[in-house]
Amino acid sequence: MTNESEHLVAVGAGVDWDAEAAAFDDEPDHGLRAPEVRAAWAALLRSWLPERPADLLDLGCGTGSLSLLAAEQGHRVTGVDSSPAMVERARAKLAGRDAVVLHGDAAAPPVGEQRYDVLLVRHVLWALPDPARVLRHWRTLLRPGGRFVLVEGVWGTLTPVGIPADRLTALLEPVAGSVRVQRLSDEPVLWGKAVDDERYAVVATV
Ligand SMILES: C[S@@+](CC[C@H](N)C(=O)[O-])C[C@H]1O[C@@H](n2cnc3c(N)ncnc32)[C@H](O)[C@@H]1O
Repeated sequence: MTNESEHLVAVGAGVDWDAEAAAFDDEPDHGLRAPEVRAAWAALLRSWLPERPADLLDLGCGTGSLSLLAAEQGHRVTGVDSSPAMVERARAKLAGRDAVVLHGDAAAPPVGEQRYDVLLVRHVLWALPDPARVLRHWRTLLRPGGRFVLVEGVWGTLTPVGIPADRLTALLEPVAGSVRVQRLSDEPVLWGKAVDDERYAVVATV
């Protein structure tokens, strides 16, 4: 691992996310505090999300940084996170927006019969047990014509962890129609530094 951010992503399910919440936004791609980083993620989101205001479910939303960008773009946001400390921060960040943040499991979000136009998930799916089963369940939460926006990667060099794009696209095959992969490794502005590992987004419509 080259830094704390990658370490946290890489250890995934083993992290005490409550303990990490206070410093989580210190990483450039987490807090999106630098204007150029924030603008880069905002532009990507705009390109991935529907043009019209949509109902968006952000699973494993963390402190709500991407949720806030989506809300700023006019979308109605529901965030879900299993860490109470993350939920608290996300609620504060999204106060006054058309957004709610729920405490719950991303693999089985507590959203009842509500259905969504977009499922947005960044750096969470790979660490969930049985991603294929999770994707099948998430598919049931999407309205017809809805889409997955999944931002994932493979981190570390000696003992890489994560989910490669080709594996994720294979997992999406049974649940999605068109699947588009966008490589994000060559855009240092997104990460606040140059990176040499695999980072990507998948936009998959159903
Ligand atoms: C690497 S952070 C990513 C946060 C956010 N998606 C982002 O990109 O800024 C992982 C987040 O997923 C949450 N998380 C991990 N496992 C989860 C689960 N099973 N259900 C809900 N949230 C989970 C953690 O609490 C943490 O907030």
